[in-house]
Parts: sequence; C-alpha cells; structure tokens
Amino acid sequence: MTPSADDIRRAAALLESGRLVAFPTETVYGLGADAEDPAAVAQIYAAKGRPSTHPLIVHLAPEADLGQWAREVPEAAKKLIAAFWPGPLTLIMKKSLQVPDAATGGQDTIGLRCPSHPVAQALLRAFKQGRGGVAAPSANRFGHVSPTTAQHVKDEFRDDIGDSGRIGMVLDGGQSQVGIESTIIDLSRWETHGPVLLRPGHIGADAIAAVLGVEPRLPDAAAPRASGTLEAHYAPLAPVALVSSGELVATVAQLHAVRKRVVLLCHTPHSLPTGIAQISLPSTPEGYAHGLYAALRVLDGERADLILVEAPPAAAAWQGVNDRLRRAAHDSSGVIERLLDGD
Ligand code: TXA
Ligand code: MG
Repeated sequence: MTPSADDIRRAAALLESGRLVAFPTETVYGLGADAEDPAAVAQIYAAKGRPSTHPLIVHLAPEADLGQWAREVPEAAKKLIAAFWPGPLTLIMKKSLQVPDAATGGQDTIGLRCPSHPVAQALLRAFKQGRGGVAAPSANRFGHVSPTTAQHVKDEFRDDIGDSGRIGMVLDGGQSQVGIESTIIDLSRWETHGPVLLRPGHIGADAIAAVLGVEPRLPDAAAPRASGTLEAHYAPLAPVALVSSGELVATVAQLHAVRKRVVLLCHTPHSLPTGIAQISLPSTPEGYAHGLYAALRVLDGERADLILVEAPPAAAAWQGVNDRLRRAAHDSSGVIERLLDGD
C-alpha cells in the first residue's frame, strides 16, 4: 500500500513533466499539478469539470519559502502556521506576483497549505527538490463527494488514469485520517477584516481564536470566492435529507408506507425495521468526519430514493461535519415531502 521511494520519485517526475498525480493528504485525496505550469493546471480543471475561475490550493513542503508564493505574510499567518502546520489548515494570502494566474483562478490571493500526511510530504519534498508548489483540489468530479481513499479516486476517474489518461498516477496512502477538507482562513484582508472563516474543518474556529486572540468572522459578500463554499457541494447522486434523532424512526416508517427505498446514516442507536441499509458512524465529531465521505459513497451505491441522515448535534465541534452535510443536502430540499406525495 505505502508507496515506495521509487513510486514517489516517479510521481514527482510526472508532476515535473506536466502530468497530474493524485495523492493522499490527511484531509482528503488531492489531484495535483505543478502550480507554476498553466497547461498542467488546466488539466486539473478539465479532469474535474470544474469552472476555471475557481482557485486551487497550493500545497507546499514544510521547508518551503512562503515568500515565493505570498507577497505579504501577516503576523497572524506566522502564528497560525507555527500552531497548525503541517496540518489541515489552508491560509489565503495576497499572492506573489511571480505565481501564474492559472492556479489562483485569476484572483489576487493564493490558498496555501502544508499537509501532514507522510506521503504528501514525501511527494512535495521530491517535487522540484521541495521548491515547487503542487496545486491540488480534492480528487473528485466537481460538486461530488471528496475521496478519502485511493480507491475512491479510481472510482471517480476510472477512464482517465494511467499512461493514456489525464492522471498519470494515483499514490495510495490509506484512508485519510481527518476525512473532511481543510479549514480555510482568509488573511488577505487582515488589516481591515481580521481572520475570516471561509470553510470550517477539523481545526475549529475556537482553536483559531485561541491562537490569534480574535474570533474568525464569517465571510461577507466581498470575501474571496471558494467553490467549497457553494451552497450545493460535496453531494452524492441520491437525494440527501437531514432529520433530527427524534424524527428518524417515524420518517422511515412513513416513507416505507409509500414504498420508498431509504438508506440511513446515523450516529446513535435506533430500532428500525430490518432490511434497511444503514451505516452508523461514531458519535464524536472526529470519528464521524473520518468516516463520513466513505459512508456517503457506500450509501449512494445502494441507489435508494433517499439517503436519510440523523442530524448531528449543533455544537461548535460539529461545525465542519454539519457544513458538509448541509451542502450535500442542499439540492434535495423538500425531498421527503415530494417522496411522501408519491413522486
Ligand atoms: O483539505 C483540502 O483542502 C483538500 C486537500 C486536497 O488539500 N483540498 C481541497 O481543495 O479541498 P478544493 O479545491 O476541493 O477546495 C479548495 C477550496 C475551494 O473552495 C477554493 O475555492 C478555495 O479553497 N480557495 C483556494 N484558493 C483560494 C483563494 N485564493 N481565495 C479563496 N478561496 C480559495
Ligand atoms: Mg473539493
């Protein structure tokens, strides 16, 4: 499973020659290209079907020179980097003028992250001797559930992998530990806006506040765009609906009565009719996030009329998980009523 030193060298060489390589990180798998090669970066957008105005995160080795990528590194960034890098935190800063526009979707800012996964680090250290940046979105088709295993990546891009495909290689680093995408903090307007939380994740707003001494704000209309913040995102193909723990059993019974096929994602025990596919995730936010995307993929494979999710607690520690579930369910609003009406 773990890639050999030779695999890492081959992956770095593929990136250096302008090809794409999928690689593990502690959050989710990324689909990487040389951030300084606009033609390679264009291949990422083509493979994902992602609009080219959506910026990518640039991944750096722990020893990287930040000044090569960001033209200003505010004091706040230095503090967050000291506290959380390598790790699941992306920082948005003003981009250095030498970084090509392709990787940042033409924006004046750049998202930078130093992942902690050992395979990601080995790749970043081998690529251009650690002096390059690997632009990488999550390795899934646009809008779909992010991959947390190498097999998920292969399932997403089946025909596009290998010598004749766009993706030269998929490095296997096992199941991603965190399971949801990195927390994104915008520091590009630090002087006027302070830290802005663009995407919640494993590193919570409280942990950011503890380091900076100020609570991150929620984005305003002028905040940098982030496709991970689109209302509908991270979605399975089947409709997804959230209901409270107390409503779960009754909702299943109602849908059964009109012969709808329901599959369940829960985190507390319930007595349900037999024959219902269900996955029970751990009742801690970390455990739940770790298994969430793999569970959604398995439940999606059941081709049911509905993926019914027992809504997790609203507590701050669940913010990242609740954000992803809300986006997964966004396009399905009103679905339970429609199914009960016989649609
Ligand atoms: O955990 C992660 O962040 C994973 C792994 C692979 O590192 N990557 C990831 O990438 O989730 P992606 O492209 O699926 O989501 C990155 C988010 C997008 O919502 C993008 O719009 C935002 O980061 N982003 C990147 N650069 C930005 C910038 N300069 N300004 C605002 N948002 C930016
Ligand atoms: Mg993504």
